[in-house]
Amino acid sequence: MKVSFTLNSETRWLECQPNQTLLHALREQLGVKSPKCGCERGDCGTCTILLDGKSIKSCLVLACEVEGCEITTLEGLMQSGLTPLQKAFLDQNAFQCGFCAPGMVIAATELLEHNSSPNRGEIEEALAGNLCRCTGYAPIIDAVLDLVDNGGK
Ligand code: FES
Ligand code: FES
Repeated sequence: MKVSFTLNSETRWLECQPNQTLLHALREQLGVKSPKCGCERGDCGTCTILLDGKSIKSCLVLACEVEGCEITTLEGLMQSGLTPLQKAFLDQNAFQCGFCAPGMVIAATELLEHNSSPNRGEIEEALAGNLCRCTGYAPIIDAVLDLVDNGGK
């Protein structure tokens, strides 16, 4: 089955099996490695990407479902280098192993698109679907708050 879509501002297509997830298609066929393969059942959020501007778990979407869609991964957000959000993560030491970081950044990016000054509770809610085994979450929330306090710069 052949599908075409926009991936990080480029038109792409792929030949996929009916049961192939978007996560595996991105990583194995398209060489896009920022979405990580964690639980593969929608629990951990490491595979989070933007699909038509909405953060979704790419392990729960079939590749054959994205015909005509616009997909953005962390690679797409970084076309001009580290984003302000990534810099805030670095400043706050908001990751250790880093496995959760791409998904966290994508989920926080979606939040900030819709709410430019979220409070701590709103950030926690927006990131609730993304698990981190290393940091205890506080530095991640602090990184987003830090960016908000600095006017998104
Ligand atoms: S790998 Fe998709 S939610 Fe865990
Ligand atoms: S930094 Fe290791 S899982 Fe979050």
